[in-house]
Amino acid sequence: MQSVAESTLGVRADFPIFARRFGARELIYLDSSATSQKPRSVIDAQAEHLRLHNANVHRGVYALAQEADAAYAAAREHVAAFVGGEARTTIFTKNATEAINLVAYSWGRANVGAGDAVLITQMEHHANLVPWQMLCRERGAELRYLEVDEHGELSLEQLDAELARGDVRLLAFAHVSNVLGTINPVAEMAARARAAGAVSLVDGAQAVPQLPVDVAALGADFYAWTGHKALGPTGVGVLHGRAELLEAMEPFLTGGDMIGSVDLQSVTWNELPYKFEAGTPPIAEIVGLGAAVDYLGALGMQRVREHERALTAYMLTRLPEVPGLRVVGPPDAERRGALASFTIDGIHPHDVAELADRGGVCIRAGHHCAQPLMRCLGVAATARASLGVYNEASDVDALVDALQAGREIFGL
Ligand SMILES: Cc1ncc(COP(=O)(O)O)c(C=O)c1O
Repeated sequence: MQSVAESTLGVRADFPIFARRFGARELIYLDSSATSQKPRSVIDAQAEHLRLHNANVHRGVYALAQEADAAYAAAREHVAAFVGGEARTTIFTKNATEAINLVAYSWGRANVGAGDAVLITQMEHHANLVPWQMLCRERGAELRYLEVDEHGELSLEQLDAELARGDVRLLAFAHVSNVLGTINPVAEMAARARAAGAVSLVDGAQAVPQLPVDVAALGADFYAWTGHKALGPTGVGVLHGRAELLEAMEPFLTGGDMIGSVDLQSVTWNELPYKFEAGTPPIAEIVGLGAAVDYLGALGMQRVREHERALTAYMLTRLPEVPGLRVVGPPDAERRGALASFTIDGIHPHDVAELADRGGVCIRAGHHCAQPLMRCLGVAATARASLGVYNEASDVDALVDALQAGREIFGL
């Protein structure tokens, strides 16, 4: 296990944005859970594609179009392989939100009805909550929640009890919570769902950027994530699905590219994964995401996790030095992802973020798209510092200094 002093991946120079100055100050970025910064290789891959290989995909016979096709197909192969998936069952969407909505519409509308239940958790991002609420409302099904305990964790006993009721059609939950940082036991939860006859969907938006993820080994039926948090561009997300389920599902969006053949009154669907990719995809962004997973793969996700775990442990020891500061979520860095949400007595989280900014540190404040969880925690909002591959212990130190200085400004 690395000590904090050793814990640098030495990659900051790969990220052009860190050459920026805000007045005399450097950029100290602790908001990677919202979106990550991008390495030069991603920016260059996207720009080079637009500069040299731009053509629409799946339509052209000429050499340039075939280059675009090849780049698009290669990106899918790389993205699938990065998380242990198969290209055929790796679907590009706009983001994680769209990937989850795809399942809610295409699988959910056909498989969830009156008397059924959808089981999610109190720690879900709205992206993995609102689509299920809409589905249940529309289909007369019940939406139930697994509770979060005082350490920000779920109970497998409660999961078993819920599944034993026999009406759960779908279990949907985050791999890593974007507020608590909790790492949920995906393989165990997915296996229990399967044994009870329920389908599972995992929201991996916060997990893929920071943990080694093997979707085949995890065994969930659907696994959704988003490119822009994993060093890739905005505008591209990913859904991995079990082939039998995807094959049985109706398409989500319809139009060009996703068809087999179209007659005046009838239509057949294209094969996987194209059946779920209507219209022109974000080609350059997908190429950029391919470069992002290559970059992360070259770093090694085990190394990334080790680095961020060490920095998280450091952050969890340093933050409580600020009087009145309370971190939510699991106390042990081993059981959590690379972020810390916190409150400070006497200072509103939005003021905390502003005080951090005065010290040159970017953190986020708000409900983090998890309003039901905020209510469970008994707060309206939290401040959140989240780490990426480019962060170092000095960034955490700068945050703590800024918060200490902020308390003085508030006369605390
Ligand atoms: C846990 C989690 N799920 C889903 C999302 C949604 O990601 P996107 O906005 O890229 O669809 C986020 C983004 O903050 C997230 O943190």
